[in-house]
Amino acid sequence: MSQKSELPIAVGIDLGTTAVRCIIGMQEEEAPAPSIIGVGVSGTEGVRKGVVHDVASTVSAITAAIDEAERISGVEIRGATVGVNGQHLVTVSSRGIVAVGNANREISQEDIARVEEAATVMQLPPNREIVGIFPRNYTVDGQEHVKNPVGMSGMRLEVDTSLVTAATPFLKNTTRSINQAGIDIHTHTATALAASRTVASPRDREIGCVVVDIGANTTGVAVFEEGELLHASVLPVGAAHVTNDIAIGLRTDVETAENIKLDYIDADPQTKHANEGFTVKELNGDPLTVTKLEVNTIAQARLKELFRLVDKELKKVKKDGMLPAGALLCGGGANLTGIAELAKQELRLPAHIKSPRGFSGIVDKIQDPQFSTAIGLMLEDMEGEYDLGGDLSVTSIIGNLQSWMGSIVDRFRS
Ligand SMILES: Nc1ncnc2c1ncn2[C@@H]1O[C@H](COP(=O)(O)OP(=O)(O)OP(=O)(O)O)[C@@H](O)[C@H]1O
Ligand SMILES: [Mg+2]
Repeated sequence: MSQKSELPIAVGIDLGTTAVRCIIGMQEEEAPAPSIIGVGVSGTEGVRKGVVHDVASTVSAITAAIDEAERISGVEIRGATVGVNGQHLVTVSSRGIVAVGNANREISQEDIARVEEAATVMQLPPNREIVGIFPRNYTVDGQEHVKNPVGMSGMRLEVDTSLVTAATPFLKNTTRSINQAGIDIHTHTATALAASRTVASPRDREIGCVVVDIGANTTGVAVFEEGELLHASVLPVGAAHVTNDIAIGLRTDVETAENIKLDYIDADPQTKHANEGFTVKELNGDPLTVTKLEVNTIAQARLKELFRLVDKELKKVKKDGMLPAGALLCGGGANLTGIAELAKQELRLPAHIKSPRGFSGIVDKIQDPQFSTAIGLMLEDMEGEYDLGGDLSVTSIIGNLQSWMGSIVDRFRS
């Protein structure tokens, strides 16, 4: 298969608990966002709780997803930006300090790179690696809360950063799976941060929001304010727990419980559930009549627990009930009927369901909250190593255009 175009192409691969999703994007000149030219999805059992636990099975799912995306796009994939998920992801704060390099004491982009590098030189516990550096604000000669110090005069430059760190063994299994599928990893990114690129606008991040990526086994949380990442974490609860609770509560199999979840659950606390019954088959084969009220009580209990955990994360950074742009819900669990209303009540914040928007190309398949992460990984891949957590703003694209056009085109030529 040959490359279809000389335009910059980027690839995101999301190793989810239910499926591996691969997205190929192409940046057309002057288009505000990349066009989606390839989509591949393959169910997997090799990922559990967001981490790879069976390399062989994950490799075959990655291969199948890539094959599909390649077939649709006519592009051969050699490298990608890949998501990292799991409770092992942790955000820590770190400070970097450097002397301004220029003789005339004007702060340059090079000083910014040096001070961010300095912030990463910290004592990490053994077996942990940094997977994301997010500068929050700078201090120039004691003047705090500087957003962009480039061009300012100063002797001493400091930066406060949020560093996202991951456990090396989990990272290695991800790398091994991707490499065995014949793909190079350009970068690793926490899946909730990738999803944030897709669903949180620069304005949402500026005024304050929390992205809640409700997957099958995990929920990723990323809190933003003043354009910067304040906190990111992964909770060990997702939409599959709702299914399991229904299966246990009704003594039925998981497949039946999943169908009940899709057909009957309405998490909206205002909904008055009629006491109407429907029949399911118990594990022993006996028919059982249950009511919508019963199954919704089971589902709401689990979802309330999930939002209590999200609220606890917001409390850690003193933002509970305090984010004007509210909770932006994505991931497959965001498709649950009434979930935004429940989130609004439990988090005391506005809440919105977010699907990928503003893309051209093969969009019918990807306009679902489930694709937010894979698309965000593709967006990160577009910006390459030149952006450390910035937005998909037109200025950042233009700023990086020359460098990444060269590097990405080379990548596909070689
Ligand atoms: N229309 C729908 N209504 C209700 N739930 C849905 C719907 N579509 C998907 N889900 C649920 O979303 C979950 C899968 O979401 P997603 O694909 O984001 O997870 P994942 O990325 O594979 O998992 P994780 O992020 O935990 O590794 C499943 O539990 C599924 O039942
Ligand atoms: Mg996911």
